[in-house]
Amino acid sequence: MAHPRHDPLTLALHWLIALLILGAYVTSELAQGRGGPGTNLHGSLGLAVFGLSLIRILWRGLAPHPAPVPMGAWMARAAHLAHVALYVTMLLAPALGLAALWARGSEMSFLGFIPLPSPMTPDRAFSRTLKGAHELASNALVILALLHAAAAIFHQYILRDGLLERMLPRRR
Ligand code: HEM
Ligand code: HEM
Repeated sequence: MAHPRHDPLTLALHWLIALLILGAYVTSELAQGRGGPGTNLHGSLGLAVFGLSLIRILWRGLAPHPAPVPMGAWMARAAHLAHVALYVTMLLAPALGLAALWARGSEMSFLGFIPLPSPMTPDRAFSRTLKGAHELASNALVILALLHAAAAIFHQYILRDGLLERMLPRRR
């Protein structure tokens, strides 16, 4: 079934952000200590997620959005809720990560050469709370994304409503 696709910028941002989230997740163990290359890597991947997600959300408001694939009311509502939750955690997880880093007095360099010194007074207890919140938000993001991917595959191959093709480049 042919459906209108998402525009190329939405497509590019969707898959680039998905890859960066995967990258931030697998490098998360490297962000320990008072900073350094591992922290720069994990933090840069995460901050790229934050920045590109902001652009994605802005663009979603500006560009025409294709009409949703027809589906039952409860399913449409669940999809909408899941997308809102994804957008919220895509911003919240990295923001809490940077706050946790700053609150413990560590610093990082975005991409290894743009220093982001901490503007906060070090506070170990607050930093631990923020770190816990960062891990919670990050795990929620990854679990939501897995459920979201499972739902997309269910639409494509069980419901056969062409949903996945909306997010894939046109085949020649
Ligand atoms: C989508 C973005 C992100 C994801 C999915 C993510 C994921 C995670 C996860 C799962 C952990 C827990 C690792 C462990 O088991 O110890 C973690 C820890 C951490 N993350 Fe992130 N993170 C993201 C963005 C960021 C950003 C932007 C920063 C900082 C600029 C950051 C800084 C940290 C720090 C400092 C820790 C604690 C490391 C430690 O002391 O154990 N994260 N992150
Ligand atoms: C970290 C990974 C991912 C994140 C954060 C993510 C996030 C999102 C978000 C927020 C939307 C909502 C678009 C809108 O505003 O309407 C979306 C749409 C979509 N995603 Fe993902 N996604 C991820 C991975 C995947 C994967 C692995 C698949 C496929 C298996 C997938 C398939 C889709 C499809 C088909 C749509 C369009 C739905 C529609 O047109 O109604 N996504 N994604």
